[in-house]
Amino acid sequence: MNATSTRADAFVVFGITGDLAAKMTFRALYRLEAAGRLNCPIIGLGHADWSHYRLVTAAREALAAGDQSVDPEVFERLARRLSYLRGDFSDPATYRELAERLENASAPVFYLAIPPALFGPVVTALGQAKLTNGASVLIEKPFGHDLDSARALNEELHRTLDEDQILRIDHFLAKQPVLDIAFLRFDNIMFEPVWNRDHIAAVQITMAEDFGVEDRGRFYDSVGALRDVVQNHLLQVLALLAMEAPAGPGSRALWDSKADVFRATADVDPAHTIAGQYEGYLDVTGVGRESVTETYVALRLEVNTPRWAGVPWFIRAGKALATRATEVRIVFHRPPPLTFLPRPQPVAANQLVLRIDPDPALRLILASQGATGTTEQAVHMDLPFAAELGQPPEPYERLLHDALTGAHSLFTREDVVEETWRILQPMIDHPPKPVSYPRGSWGPAGADELLRGHPGWQLPWLPDTGNTGT
Ligand code: BG6
Repeated sequence: MNATSTRADAFVVFGITGDLAAKMTFRALYRLEAAGRLNCPIIGLGHADWSHYRLVTAAREALAAGDQSVDPEVFERLARRLSYLRGDFSDPATYRELAERLENASAPVFYLAIPPALFGPVVTALGQAKLTNGASVLIEKPFGHDLDSARALNEELHRTLDEDQILRIDHFLAKQPVLDIAFLRFDNIMFEPVWNRDHIAAVQITMAEDFGVEDRGRFYDSVGALRDVVQNHLLQVLALLAMEAPAGPGSRALWDSKADVFRATADVDPAHTIAGQYEGYLDVTGVGRESVTETYVALRLEVNTPRWAGVPWFIRAGKALATRATEVRIVFHRPPPLTFLPRPQPVAANQLVLRIDPDPALRLILASQGATGTTEQAVHMDLPFAAELGQPPEPYERLLHDALTGAHSLFTREDVVEETWRILQPMIDHPPKPVSYPRGSWGPAGADELLRGHPGWQLPWLPDTGNTGT
């Protein structure tokens, strides 16, 4: 990133009065302003009867609610960029007024932080108002709710926009450790020779959250864990782990590599899935009394490439679990038993753990003979990212910056998104009945069954808790 690379000449936020703006957008914009990386006006659109003063107050309150320290001068600069446009998103008059405000803009970015049902209508209306020439449209998730709806949405958007004008957000792609996967794999010669079926026995991807659905009951109940975090975030992580090196620079080559992974990934077999629902979920406001929405899901996928054939990819994600941890765990094959070692049985397998959240870090688990020389013992080589690499920009800060400067690698492409839905569609068509699990547990008991015959689920590696992981 550099301070002079901003390309967009206006940033228009649909839904500036909403939750996402309060939680993410103002903070990201403030941080970009502080770093000198913003240089265009920002127009916020919403239904509410807000004044400029009210908008600036909302920005101030949003920053105060987080842990972002605020420099008054920086905030003042940001406030001067902000303006508000009140309007109904279904009323052509809103777009006429927006067009007047954008009279001098030739490369605006429209950010749709609005309910997904409005993505199509808003883009169509922008097109009808002749606002899309030279523009980009930044779209929040969820992108569809199954394969058919994702295709329909793509078709609808393509009636107005070219594919390279559409930036589909997946904030996991902007997390530093996720970005680092490609560097780890392809910038370190020691990993490539072992990064395949000959050396890797299984891959486990865990996204555990120790909080429930809280105030998002209504949204979450229509979505569930599979659509909320697996179809997007965790499959994107899988693609980065499994892909071949992109054939060249830029987003197209990267997307091609990811698309190849997904095309080679078999449809999920519903027999290799399990769903759970935490106790108490049905009492959450907005959740149907007889809801069968899963708050936990675990599944096994197969990537049928020469590199990965036969290696199971286990993914699990859940709310109200024992801890908050998102990690990738590469479990290598055990070495053969050798008689010169003290105990000639196979020793524990090596593992490489990439902790994505909290506190990103990398751990290599090795076997050693232990101090007494009579036992085999696991030892760890740890790389805490913050200590070694410094503090990276926050995901939304990166995403907004990239959208404003026309960098597309952190967003996703239509075929990539459609393939992820295709892979999961059997589970959407035949959803496993969720099994109840206690809050604070590791999900339904059957989740262990899924791994029968393979290395079992490992306890996530947590920062500074004394839990050394396994
Ligand atoms: C969002 C999901 O996309 O990701 C949430 O909708 C989830 O349910 C969140 O909690 C997790 O993101 P992060 O960055 O906090 O790990």
